[in-house]
Amino acid sequence: MLDGLINSLSFNAYVVVVILLSIAGIWAIISWSYDNLRSLVLIVKAVLAPYFLPQEHQTLAEKFGSWAVITGSTDGIGKQYARELASRGINVVLISRTKKKLVEVANEIEQEFHVKTKWIAADFSQGRDIYPRIEEELRGIPVGILELTDTFT
Ligand SMILES: NC(=O)c1ccc[n+]([C@@H]2O[C@H](COP(=O)([O-])OP(=O)(O)OC[C@H]3O[C@@H](n4cnc5c(N)ncnc54)[C@H](OP(=O)(O)O)[C@@H]3O)[C@@H](O)[C@H]2O)c1
Repeated sequence: MLDGLINSLSFNAYVVVVILLSIAGIWAIISWSYDNLRSLVLIVKAVLAPYFLPQEHQTLAEKFGSWAVITGSTDGIGKQYARELASRGINVVLISRTKKKLVEVANEIEQEFHVKTKWIAADFSQGRDIYPRIEEELRGIPVGILELTDTFT
């Protein structure tokens, strides 16, 4: 009878161990699959979503707000950024050194794209002293996009 009890107990322990190992194994498989297949699932989802899910189109202004600040914005890359953002209905704050160029580019953008502009003449190579004035000039403007075109060292 004692032998039967011992056999029954060890059988129950065996069953418990098997169940625990099974749970651990299933958990390990799920974790491994999640880690390894997650990126693939996300990529497939991102590729297929536009074809199957209704897209909620947001304009740049709806997404980031209606104002952008662009440094180095009177020539080259910065100017093209300013024009591109303005063409999408974003008001632009232009920051560069030369007042004459700033006025010209601001007028050009306002006439062409019918957005608001503001310009700030500042030389970023002059150190931190220029920042309080820029901060003051930007006060009250809800800036959602900041494009820093240069390091200006
Ligand atoms: N163009 C390219 O193919 C290219 C490629 C790779 C990297 N980059 C880099 O991208 C940056 C811009 O290039 P870009 O070709 O657009 O130059 P860019 O045509 O010479 O224009 C520079 C702009 O920055 C302003 N600026 C220059 N120094 C300034 C300063 N100290 N403080 C404030 N504003 C200043 C200039 O106006 P003011 O003179 O009135 O200040 C101008 O609006 C540079 O760092 C360049 O090295 C350019």
